[in-house]
Amino acid sequence: MSIQNILETMEYGVAPEDDSQARKWLAKHEGGFGHFIDGAMTKPGDLFEVRDPASDTVLARVTQGTASDVDAAVSAARNAQSGWAKLSGHQRAKHLYALARHIQQHSRLLAVLESLDSGKPIRESRDIDIPLVARHFYHHAGWAEILEDELPGHTAQGVCGQIIPWNFPLLMLSWKVAPALAAGNTVVLKPAEYTPLTALAFAEIAQECGIPKGVINIVTGDGETGAAIVGHEGIDKLAFTGSTDVGRILRERTAGSGKALTLELGGKSPFVVFEDADLDAAVEGVVDAIWFNQGQVCCAGSRILVAEAVAERFETLLRARMKTLRTGDPMDKSTDIGAIVHPSQLARIRELVEKGASEGATLTQGSAPQGCYFPPTLVTDVEPASVLATEEIFGPVVTLTTFRTPSDAVALANNTRYGLAASIWSENVNLCLDIAGQVKAGIVWINSTNIFDAGAGFGGYRESGFGREGGREGMRAYLRNPAAATGKGKGTTPAELETGPADTIKGGEIDRTAKLYVGGKQARPDSGYSYQVKGGKAVVGLAGLGNRKDIRNAVEAAHKAKGWGKATGHNRAQVLYYIGENLSARGAEFAARLESFGASRKAAEAEVETAVARCFWYAAQADKFDGAVHATKSEFVTLAMNEPIGVMGLVAPTAQPLLGAISLVLPAIAMGNRVVLVPSQAHPLAATDLYQVLDTSDVPGGVVNIVTGPRDELAKTLAAHDGIDAMWYFGNAEGCRMVEAQSAGNLKQTWVEADDARDWGARAGQGRLFLDRATQVKNIWVPYGA
Ligand code: NAI
Repeated sequence: MSIQNILETMEYGVAPEDDSQARKWLAKHEGGFGHFIDGAMTKPGDLFEVRDPASDTVLARVTQGTASDVDAAVSAARNAQSGWAKLSGHQRAKHLYALARHIQQHSRLLAVLESLDSGKPIRESRDIDIPLVARHFYHHAGWAEILEDELPGHTAQGVCGQIIPWNFPLLMLSWKVAPALAAGNTVVLKPAEYTPLTALAFAEIAQECGIPKGVINIVTGDGETGAAIVGHEGIDKLAFTGSTDVGRILRERTAGSGKALTLELGGKSPFVVFEDADLDAAVEGVVDAIWFNQGQVCCAGSRILVAEAVAERFETLLRARMKTLRTGDPMDKSTDIGAIVHPSQLARIRELVEKGASEGATLTQGSAPQGCYFPPTLVTDVEPASVLATEEIFGPVVTLTTFRTPSDAVALANNTRYGLAASIWSENVNLCLDIAGQVKAGIVWINSTNIFDAGAGFGGYRESGFGREGGREGMRAYLRNPAAATGKGKGTTPAELETGPADTIKGGEIDRTAKLYVGGKQARPDSGYSYQVKGGKAVVGLAGLGNRKDIRNAVEAAHKAKGWGKATGHNRAQVLYYIGENLSARGAEFAARLESFGASRKAAEAEVETAVARCFWYAAQADKFDGAVHATKSEFVTLAMNEPIGVMGLVAPTAQPLLGAISLVLPAIAMGNRVVLVPSQAHPLAATDLYQVLDTSDVPGGVVNIVTGPRDELAKTLAAHDGIDAMWYFGNAEGCRMVEAQSAGNLKQTWVEADDARDWGARAGQGRLFLDRATQVKNIWVPYGA
């Protein structure tokens, strides 16, 4: 071909990456890989093949980890943990820094191995994955150095079990290992069965750097090996990235175990293009959103929502761009879309796409070679309920839907059970920020997409999981808070309730039955029954016997009060101060009520006084517990905003019935949440007396709802309710297990503790921990530049 011809067609030549070093490394391990346990590689056990999906050839054979392998790894990590945590921050920093340096030294080998193993284009592994891996180790070396100054009193969680997927094998390892080590934890990590090779190369790098033995342990294997880690009693904290289905299994299996858990799960993220967007830039954005890593990206922008007015033009541009995408050999430097990780994943993509097509969707596809490849695919004429619009496909497949108004766009964007990311395109930054605030997603990219940095948190809302990786939020997930409960405690099991028709149980000086409080109004319990509230042996009052129906009504009322989340911090502070003032004005009455339950005068007065002070403390925080602007990439402002979680279920401790209840309600509403409170089963009247205080303190109806009755039955209904976004439960061990297990349905965040483990009257009853738990961080990336 003459030069003139080449210029005419602009055909690319082949530009293959040299894979000889990686092949040499693989050849060295021809006999098969063992695990990396206690600082050394074990002998290979039962081996399975690891294949290159692009050429369908065997790259290596690795060991299927058994329960006893996991046991050995956990023991090694346990033995190493206290020594590692005792090192100074500076010493740990030096180790992490060494890892970062050595990763950089081996960067090309790691990039080539990653592409061979996963099928991702070498351009991506070389320019995106591996540099980010090094960045994570550098960033967290920094955290190790300054941890004591920045997060004083925090201590390591202990031994961390970490299970990662195949889409960003070494990157996900770095996201998990770097913060864990910085915090003084040791780790047992399992890479995905399709892509274990860079984790094994990393094990060698750890040896090379002299990381103390047992600090990093890597066990290979499939889901069964993962399950052995999840179920192991020696694990203190679990971090998982993968499918929502497996995330749900982990939530259920760890219920009641006391293991800390963070889940980074699937997504179906919207990519919203407004009429005034730079359409060429937005088309390039789609390429990065869904055709990056073959679309095997949890935060992929897989649903394009485009303004009707520009839809036709946008689609034309997009189709033209799609034609220029090169799908093929991952080791070719000019490849845009590489191989799908494994034939079974390819089969899954095909099945979903065929199903979508049979439902009436129209497909436009680019080209792809034979083998484990899938062409870039644009899906139009797709109904909102179509499998292609609702399921995470995890392939290079994007749907396109139009919208008319910004509020339509928000409704469509949020019409998913996930909430990982969103990308918003408009030249009007006011509009972008307005929409960014309204989408339910942990990460929002404005006029950009798939931008990552170690300095910003990453993680989802709703069924995309909970917890953040990266940034300050990510560090906290690997630390125990100093205000954590002292002593484990068994928790209380309330006595059987003595019930009768409402108002008919007579005793003491009962004049009326305290009703429930729903939507700002007193409500009779659906059951028509009430139960006796005792002080010592005497009956001191009656409380409504709430049931599932009452909880459902309360949740509905809380949902209607969504304006509360939009009130300014100042407005919310005013309301909280007002609650404090009114509680103080009626202090004697509340103290008398507490005395009637058997508290001494002194204790009763102290409880009321602390409750009032707590109102003032959370009022003070309402406009101060704010976010941050992270230092991430040049030309981006990364805003970390603390958002309310939504509707929270709160189950209050038994003792200190006023203070316990108010200690949960205040931080939750100070941050803009609405709550359904189940007060102390034994002494709910201290909380029901709050109605009058709430009524006179300008708390909008529905912000605080109170349902009295059988604690654990009501807690179960709340924990299983899809309308509840987070659940705090202070009861007994069995209740903790039940709440965590029930929460798996919509993967709501939970905080469970034995109610006698915390002294509600002391510092442990109040603090930033409560505010952290009452908020979720949304990271909004705003680009700038003239
Ligand atoms: P997966 O969730 O099964 O695998 C992720 C990791 O979990 C792997 O290391 C696997 O060995 C481990 N695992 C599997 N079952 C386990 C269990 N019962 N206990 C403990 N660990 C277990 O994901 P898979 O099957 O590879 O992919 C299926 C779908 O999941 C994909 O098509 C995609 O939709 C989604 N996915 C989402 C990811 C994300 O980053 N959000 C990553 C990988 C997959």
